Amino acid sequence: MDLYEHQARELFEEHGILVPRAEVTDSAKEAREIARRLGGRVVVKAQVKTGGRGKAGGVKVAADPAAAELTARQILGMDIKGHRVGKVMLAQPVDIETEFYVSYVLDRAAGRFLAIASAEGGMEIEEVAASRPEAVARIHIDPAEGVTSAKASEIADAAGLPPQTVDVLVRLWEVLVREDAVLVEVNPLVRTAQGQILALDGKVTLDGNAGFRQARWGAEADAHDDPLEAAAAAKGLNYVKLDGEVGIIGNGAGLVMSTLDVVAGCGAHPANFLDIGGGASAQIMADGLSVILSDPAVKSVFVNVFGGITACDAVADGIVQALDTVRLTKPLVVRLDGNNAARGRAILDAHAHPLVQQATTMDGAARQAAQLATSA
Ligand SMILES: Nc1ncnc2c1ncn2[C@@H]1O[C@H](COP(=O)(O)OP(=O)(O)OP(=O)(O)O)[C@@H](O)[C@H]1O
Ligand SMILES: [Mg+2]
Repeated sequence: MDLYEHQARELFEEHGILVPRAEVTDSAKEAREIARRLGGRVVVKAQVKTGGRGKAGGVKVAADPAAAELTARQILGMDIKGHRVGKVMLAQPVDIETEFYVSYVLDRAAGRFLAIASAEGGMEIEEVAASRPEAVARIHIDPAEGVTSAKASEIADAAGLPPQTVDVLVRLWEVLVREDAVLVEVNPLVRTAQGQILALDGKVTLDGNAGFRQARWGAEADAHDDPLEAAAAAKGLNYVKLDGEVGIIGNGAGLVMSTLDVVAGCGAHPANFLDIGGGASAQIMADGLSVILSDPAVKSVFVNVFGGITACDAVADGIVQALDTVRLTKPLVVRLDGNNAARGRAILDAHAHPLVQQATTMDGAARQAAQLATSA
């Protein structure tokens, strides 16, 4: 569960971390009013759950309330890496002297949290991390000890952050623990010309397992900026939008993951991840197909099912029924294997839909789907 920047900002403020004054809106007209309240000059910031907003034109300074309205109008509705901007945050501009980077992230492999910090924060942090990894300090945190003042000093020293950041590092750790987060990132954390330390941007990911304790964020935390992901979520589907052209449906997350790999191995790109799980009823199949077919990037669809407890004939029945309710507009390649595979294939053969073809192996099916997609 990722939070929006304005929600992260709210949490930081509650935990005593200095943040710029700011307000959120979905209306350009209201943006003008907010800018007036904030003193005229503001930074207008797209609220989307992805990084690199600044580089994409989603963070802009507006000199006065009229400019704020204009800028908000430009940014609202904008598409940033597949995320539609539904809201903007208007923040008071801060007189930045230096930008730092700090984050705490769960390092599952190490069974520890990891503090990552750098004195060279800002929009180029990825570039810094890649070209000069020594400029980025990485220090593990024992979850039982947490970030004490001593630990925070160690992190600040290693990264070359000024001593005033120690208190912020301790408070950020409190945010992580109290709010059930698995990631807290501030980029940039800045020192102003007046020597104050402020968090100008925030990314917080909550632990989904603690969702019941974080009811406060409600649907907003689960909100999807991607319309296809939103439609899929509304239908209860386990769907993730990807950038390719081959739609994927499979049963079981492991099988779907390897289906993505096999399709990529055939020189095509998967358009999505969709795990329809064990039951694979006609309804789920129809819902899954309708979401995938409504993706304009999709050129072919690959249904990869391994029949286990749910036998292939039941899945084939589900596909046939789904084809009654969903108008198939793109070629569908089906691979059924496992329990009752022969019966399942016979059901699809008997249905003889002109856009449905079958393959007996996963590799063969992936090749067919990839070829259909790239030749379409
Ligand atoms: N309130 C503010 N006052 C002055 N400058 C700001 C303010 N907010 C952001 N900025 C500037 O804009 C840059 C980009 O903003 P921000 O970091 O919020 O967006 P971003 O590009 O999405 O960040 P990231 O790349 O970390 O995802 C910051 O590095 C900072 O220099
Ligand atoms: Mg940032």
